[in-house]
Amino acid sequence: MDSRNATATDVAATWHYASLAFWYSVYAASAIVGFSILKLIYNISPFHPLSKYPGPLLWRATRLTASWHQARGDLYKCIDAIHSKYGPTVRIAPDELSFTNPEAWSQIYNTRPQLQKTEFHFGRADERKLPESLIMANDAEHARLRRLANPAFLTAGILEVEPVMQYYADLLCNQLLHEVSHARSQPQDMVQWFLWTLNDVIGKLALDQEFDCLKLRRMHPWPKFLLRGLKNIAIFNQFRRFGITEKMLVPLMSKKQLEARDNFFNEAVSAVDRRLAREKSEKAGDGEKKTPDIVGLMLREMKDGNRLTEKEVTANSILIVGGGAETTSSCLSGTFYHLLKTPRVLKKLQQEIRSGFACPKEITIRATSNLPYLKATVEESLRIFPIASYITPRTTPKGGHMITGDHVPGGTYVSMGQWHMGRSGQLFDNPKEFRPERWLDELDVKGPANLRPDEILKPFSLGPRNCIGKQRVRPALIQCGFADELSRLALTEARLVIAKLLWHFDMELDGDHSTWVEDARFYVLWELQPLNVKLTPVRR
Ligand code: HEM
Repeated sequence: MDSRNATATDVAATWHYASLAFWYSVYAASAIVGFSILKLIYNISPFHPLSKYPGPLLWRATRLTASWHQARGDLYKCIDAIHSKYGPTVRIAPDELSFTNPEAWSQIYNTRPQLQKTEFHFGRADERKLPESLIMANDAEHARLRRLANPAFLTAGILEVEPVMQYYADLLCNQLLHEVSHARSQPQDMVQWFLWTLNDVIGKLALDQEFDCLKLRRMHPWPKFLLRGLKNIAIFNQFRRFGITEKMLVPLMSKKQLEARDNFFNEAVSAVDRRLAREKSEKAGDGEKKTPDIVGLMLREMKDGNRLTEKEVTANSILIVGGGAETTSSCLSGTFYHLLKTPRVLKKLQQEIRSGFACPKEITIRATSNLPYLKATVEESLRIFPIASYITPRTTPKGGHMITGDHVPGGTYVSMGQWHMGRSGQLFDNPKEFRPERWLDELDVKGPANLRPDEILKPFSLGPRNCIGKQRVRPALIQCGFADELSRLALTEARLVIAKLLWHFDMELDGDHSTWVEDARFYVLWELQPLNVKLTPVRR
């Protein structure tokens, strides 16, 4: 009897607690829903500090809209459409503004003290047992890392790397010559070929390792996982904005998703580890001494005794291999797409290259830096198809910040709508036309806003956190007569590959690819659709 009473009491208690839990959950859910509705109303109300900035209702009301598009990879296009409708300063989330007035570049990316980078653009290193790399380090750390990493780029950024670039540019042309003579002129997907080439180049420059992408016609396992990893990060970052961390999401992820997340990181770390092990054996005197690569140079001690730790070198090497290959290969794909769509420009460029060089050996870094139309073509490509279409937004400080003569309240994310700027009729004449002439120094072309194109666009960003791959040339080399642009590792590679390809081949698009630009997706780096091109070796 006693035990039956006890059971009845237990059941009653359990029932009581279960109903309490139920009602608390209902209250909590109602409170969250109520709070969210109030927040939405506040976000679009005149009381919100950003209320005076125009933008579509759903974007001003909730961050979910921008997050959804960022995770889908088409946020840059939406920002473009919003600027077209609402003007040069627009609200693209409750707490974010996008600007297209060129004056805002330096006010956002080159101020002292710097505006902080948002933490929701790239992945964070906290779950990876590695320190933050340059791209996400806080300002003090960034200044130290950049000072220690810079010499590697000043040295490796210019002439020392020419043999590597020459070797892979020639290998690309030879492989394509072989392919088109054996495959009865099957069209080639140039997006793949450029990825293979640039991954080979950066594998050699950064780690002195052969990635063998061109020879084996496949991606090295490390960069192969990069884009998939970046897509995942884009999604994780949107959850993080709402307080949901990667750790909380892991139990909900499939095995395949987890593999995609880990493969990139594991492959990258093991490639850098192999390079670090070689460094140690070289130091111990039992390894073959090799020419310096970026990792070797980053490991060197500075005159003041400071150096990067091995873990910092690993973190930054992962960044450099990712940043160094995909960016430049996308730039090449974008350039060839627009060239092949614009026969007038293609013909003029072919003429400059084919009349400038009697044989491929003459095509050198120095020689290509002296071809004005080639230089202008790459700049024009970065205008119409910027590689960084949405550069990491910065955050205004507590007291607010002046941008284009306007006081922007503290805690606001701010960025430049570079994709829109390059296509804006208010900044460029005939913006849809692919016209390298607008970049030619001797023509000194200014747009409707009376600004030169280089005053309007900053494809490599600017300020202390600009692209490290776009270094200024060493003073000693300027004295040797090298132009400033020569030092831009990224553009130097691109120009060399373009010149060699156009010297060897006539090219045309296979199919019209009318939605190629439209179909591209941006997850910090570009995911591009195939660019199928018919190549015919030039008869001389
Ligand atoms: C066309 C080619 C390229 C473009 C358009 C480009 C553009 C950019 C931009 C806009 C940033 C700033 C990102 C931000 O603020 O969030 C950046 C940073 C960076 N880029 Fe590039 N990049 C290119 C090629 C390269 C190459 C070839 C390398 C390396 C070999 C490289 C390495 C880096 C690194 C390490 C950073 C971080 C720098 C720092 O935070 O101090 N990039 N790049």
